[in-house]
Amino acid sequence: MTPPTAIVTGAGRGIGAAIAPELARRGYHVIVNYRRDADAAGAVVAGIRRDGGSATALACDVTDPATVAAMVAQVLAERGRIDALVVNANTAPPPFASLAELTWSEFAAKINDELAGAFHITQRVVAAMRPWGEGRLVFLGSTAADYVGGGRLAHGTAKAALATFARHVAAETARDGISVLTVAPGAVRTEATARMLDASREQVLADNSVLGRLLEPEDVAAAVGLALDPALRPATGSVLRLDAGWSVLAGGPTA
Ligand SMILES: NC(=O)c1ccc[n+]([C@@H]2O[C@H](COP(=O)([O-])OP(=O)(O)OC[C@H]3O[C@@H](n4cnc5c(N)ncnc54)[C@H](OP(=O)(O)O)[C@@H]3O)[C@@H](O)[C@H]2O)c1
Repeated sequence: MTPPTAIVTGAGRGIGAAIAPELARRGYHVIVNYRRDADAAGAVVAGIRRDGGSATALACDVTDPATVAAMVAQVLAERGRIDALVVNANTAPPPFASLAELTWSEFAAKINDELAGAFHITQRVVAAMRPWGEGRLVFLGSTAADYVGGGRLAHGTAKAALATFARHVAAETARDGISVLTVAPGAVRTEATARMLDASREQVLADNSVLGRLLEPEDVAAAVGLALDPALRPATGSVLRLDAGWSVLAGGPTA
């Protein structure tokens, strides 16, 4: 039997590079999307194949509607259908700045790229899923949508907009058999976060979590795998928050 197909955007490194093998272990043929770093995406594909899974790397800037259309058309031509989409690409590094410090162009670029990276591919993939009456979408949100501070004004606003976008898509597609979840992590240990969090700030976050540590990409990948499970269909439109217990202890991350 042909394995179902999942696209993971921005899967060359960071959280996406953990989600791709998780979905391969769950039986998907994984499209490992990346923007520029073909070597990194190739390494993810090689790792999946080494473990007996099936994957292909495809380059595409998910903020660009023309290249998204071409990638989706290529996947449909080669695979016949798309069963799952994980909108993960970190399209714009968040400018860590307060209202007083931010320029409109920094703020607008973050909002634009976050939503463009979700809108174009979701529109194309949902159109491809509808005739089959089945599909699953997962969006990578962030606890920054709910918990304020730490200069995350632009990032949090973009992720709140993304979660609202996901809820509307859930409402519009539920009767087509498509389910939608947002997985919203707190700080995850990736190369991107290592550049932003020094050791003392990491320690504050770890101390303020019930787990006593930051999240790892594999924690998020496991949650995305669960979010694709048909058992969670009735949860469509929900946000699955992975905050390592920060909200339990302190009402939100403090760093
Ligand atoms: N890390 C955290 O603490 C954290 C916490 C909460 C939520 N998140 C969310 O989780 C997601 C992944 O974050 P991450 O930290 O794993 O990011 P990352 O380590 O910076 O990885 C970025 C990935 O996205 C790809 N990418 C960037 N722009 C792209 C574009 N326009 N089109 C296609 N691919 C693109 C990159 O490809 P190239 O290398 O080829 O450019 C790379 O594979 C993001 O949505 C982020 O907001 C992260």
